[in-house]
Parts: sequence; structure tokens; C-alpha cells
Amino acid sequence: MNTMILLNTIMPGQVVLEYSYLLSAIMFVIGLKLQSHPETARKGNFWAASGMILPMITTLLLNKDVAGEGISLTNAAVVILIIAAGSVVGAIMARKVKMTAMPQMVSFFNATGGAASATVALIEFNKDPNNAVLVTLLGLVVGSIAFSGSMIAYGKLDGKVGDIFAKFMTYLNLFFMIVIVALILLVLFGGFDVATSKYIVYGLLVLSLVYGVSFVMPIGGADMPVVISLLNSLTGIAAAMAGFIYQNEAMILGGILVGAAGTILTIQMCRAMNRSLINVIVGAFGGGGASAVDVQGSIKEISLSDAAVLMSYSQKIVIIPGYGLAVAQAQHIAHELDSLLEGKGVEVKYAIHPVAGRMPGHMNVLLAEADVPYEKLVEMDDINPDMSNVDVAIVVGANDVVNPAAYDDPGSPIYGMPIIDAHLAKNIIIMKRGMGKGYAGIENFLFFNDKTRMLFGDAKSSISKLVSEIKSM
Ligand code: TAP
Repeated sequence: MNTMILLNTIMPGQVVLEYSYLLSAIMFVIGLKLQSHPETARKGNFWAASGMILPMITTLLLNKDVAGEGISLTNAAVVILIIAAGSVVGAIMARKVKMTAMPQMVSFFNATGGAASATVALIEFNKDPNNAVLVTLLGLVVGSIAFSGSMIAYGKLDGKVGDIFAKFMTYLNLFFMIVIVALILLVLFGGFDVATSKYIVYGLLVLSLVYGVSFVMPIGGADMPVVISLLNSLTGIAAAMAGFIYQNEAMILGGILVGAAGTILTIQMCRAMNRSLINVIVGAFGGGGASAVDVQGSIKEISLSDAAVLMSYSQKIVIIPGYGLAVAQAQHIAHELDSLLEGKGVEVKYAIHPVAGRMPGHMNVLLAEADVPYEKLVEMDDINPDMSNVDVAIVVGANDVVNPAAYDDPGSPIYGMPIIDAHLAKNIIIMKRGMGKGYAGIENFLFFNDKTRMLFGDAKSSISKLVSEIKSM
């Protein structure tokens, strides 16, 4: 007797199916919990992926339609083929992607999730247009917005799509939102015949796709990560709606978890960038703004040997990594530097800004890859109160996240964003290639500070030279 028949005699297939969904939800939650710490994040991914595979297998084997029929062999073969093709493409993309291009890929994958949910809703609506319920319409609208919005976010992050900053976009977006809600209410309560309802629903589809574009288009500068996270939560909500349509608990729970996690991340990022959520939803923020303050002071450089002496005779050093560390792939050599200095009795910590780099947790991932012990990574809120006791703040390829314009310049687009208080340290060394600007495209007053010395050059090569210099002392 094969296992399936045996199981069926003990427990009817439907019960096994329901239990597998419950188990999958538990696995998702365990996965999420483990993903919240860099040390266990890999395991978390494994749990979440297994939680996804389990209901796919049980649904394929045990799910029955209303007539009590399971999936036909041909359909099963098609489904398996599609899953296999998707898995291969996904695996190749994930393996090939550069760490710095990860946000683009997340956006792209997110778009496919939104498109899938919208497609489910559209197919179900077409099967029975009389049965246009709120979940179907919401699945269609939210999925379409998530799809087109994520595609635009992908294009922008990849430098393929530019920004459109125009005040009227805010009003246009509000108008789109109102029309979308009105059309949903019309389909639900307007009592139209099937043909008219169909037209309205296709109109809704087009409008939602256009709204996704116009919603993301005006967003630029430092606010992009918030939008990606928000779109991610929208995809979760759309997947949950698709789950309601199919009465599939695994899809509902998975979607809700993605929606909730995405919303929490959105709120946290809003706080980290000092933006309100309503601002994000309405669109048209960030990217603009002119400085109201003139830069004071001048740029002063430091030689490698002076930097090596200063670091070697310090007691407390804080390394502040940013996007440039990722570009230079300087994480391994940075770890070598911190070990070397610790060998000389210097206390070295890394200050981690929540939006340093180009994706949430970017710096944590890079430093973990270089085996920097987790206890050396200190969150912004925990390190800032101690910054005035720090002998040297070494800023490696970071710019916006240490820019005091966030405190001092009300005209700056990053005004109000929390930063790492590098300016409070006794000495500041900035490692970057030249006077290039950061993501927000603005001048950094920190570079002109009296306590600041610039060490120009690619971060990896500068730190390598520093390491040799310190070793030769
Ligand atoms: P940025 O402000 O982007 O500054 C990076 C700096 O690194 C640049 O000024 C550049 O100056 C320098 N750099 C580039 N390549 C380098 C290399 N090979 N060696 C040394 N330096 C190099 O970085 P940040 O301080 O990490 O701030 C992140 C910004 O990105 C924030 O505005 C944030 O809001 C935004 N953002 C964050 C995310 C997430 S979720 N983390 C996502 C999207 C956007 P040079 O050209 O002079 O070298």
C-alpha cells in the first residue's frame, strides 16, 4: 500500500490538506522569526521556503474541486512544468544578481507576485461575472497596482526610468484613488448587467495599472526603499485576496504575513527616513528641495601614515559603512582592519544605519559575509549616545546617513531623517573616491567639518593600504 492510500484511510485527504496548510503557516512564522537576526536568517529562509513548498505539493496531490475531482494528469504536468521553469529562472537570477542590484530584483519579483494575484482575480471574475465580490475586485486592483508600481520601482532603481516631480501628480493620484474606490462600489452595488460590469472591471484593471505607475513615478531620492516595502505589503494583501477567492488557507495566511511584515517594515523605514505613511501613499515626495544653508569650512585631506597613527593610538573607533563599502566590496578588508586594531587594544564597533546602502539590512548582510561578529554591529539608536566618546569615526563609503543637513538644513530633502552622529566624534575620517554625492544627491556638511579629514580613493584599496601601513608600524 503506498503512503498516500495509507494516509487516506487514516485521515481523509481534505483533513491532511488542511493540516498541511496549518503547518505551512507555522513554518512561515518560524521563518520570519529566524529572519529577524542575521545569524539565523539563512535558516529562516529555509523554513519559509519549505513552508511554501509543502502546500504546493499537498494541494497538487489532495485538492479536490466542487465536483470532488482532483487535478487531471495533464493539468498536473503543466503546473509542475511551470513551477520548474519559474524555479530555474528564479534560482539563476538570484545566483547571478550583484549584491548592489538586490533591491531591483526584489522589486521585480514583487511585480510578478502582484501580477499573479491580479490574474487569479481576473480569471475568477471572468468565470462568473455575476459573482463579483469585494475580494475579487480588491485582488485585481491591489495586485495590478503592486505589479505596475513595482515594475516602475525596478526601472528607477536600475536607472532605466527617470523621476517626474510635479505637484499635480499628488492631486492626480488622489483622483485615481477616488475613481478606483467609486468603480469598485459601482460594480458591487450598481446592479449593472454582466456586460456593463465587465467593462467597468476592465476599466478598473487599466486604471489600477496606471495608478501604480503614477504613484511611484514622482518618488525619488531617499524615499525609494519605503515605496518598495509598501509595494511588497500590497502584494501580500493581493495574495491574501487570491487566497480568499480560492478559499485556500495557506494563501490567505501567507499573504497576510507578507502584508503585515511589509507594513511593519514600511512603518520602520518611514521612521528611519522621517516620512509619514500618508505622504508615501499619496506619492509626490522626496527627491527635491534646495539647501537653505551655505557650506562653511574647507576640505582637508589626511595621509595614510597619519591615518594609521591616529587609528593605532585610539581607544574607541567606530566604522560607519555605507553604499560605497558595498560598491568597493570592502567588507573583508574592513574586518581585517578592525581585527588588526583590536589586536592593538583599540575597541572597534560598526555603526549600522537602518537605510545605509540600498536595501534593508544591506550592511548587516555584507559584514556577516565577511564574518564580522554580530556583537560588533551596533544599531544607530544605540551607538549615537556614545558617539561623543569616540576617538575616530571612520566613514567608509557612507554619505547621506552621516549628513548633518538632516539636523541643520530645513531646505534639505533629508531634513529630519535620523543619522549616525559621526560629527560628534573627536576625529572623523571619510573614505570615498572623490567629492561624489550620495543617493539623495546633496552636499554633505560633514566633509567640511573642522574635525574631518578625507582619505580619497576606492574604499577597498584605501583600507588595504591602511592595513599594510599599520602592520609596518
Ligand atoms: P550614499 O549616500 O548613497 O553615498 C555613498 C557614497 O559612497 C557616495 O557619496 C560615493 O562617493 C561613495 N562611493 C561610491 N563608490 C565608492 C567606492 N568604490 N569606494 C569608496 N566610496 C565609494 O550611501 P549611504 O550613506 O549608505 O546612504 C544610503 C542612501 O541610499 C540613503 O539616502 C538611503 O535613503 C538611500 N537608499 C537606501 C536604501 C536602503 S533600504 N538601504 C534603498 C534605496 C535608497 P564617491 O563617488 O565620491 O566615491
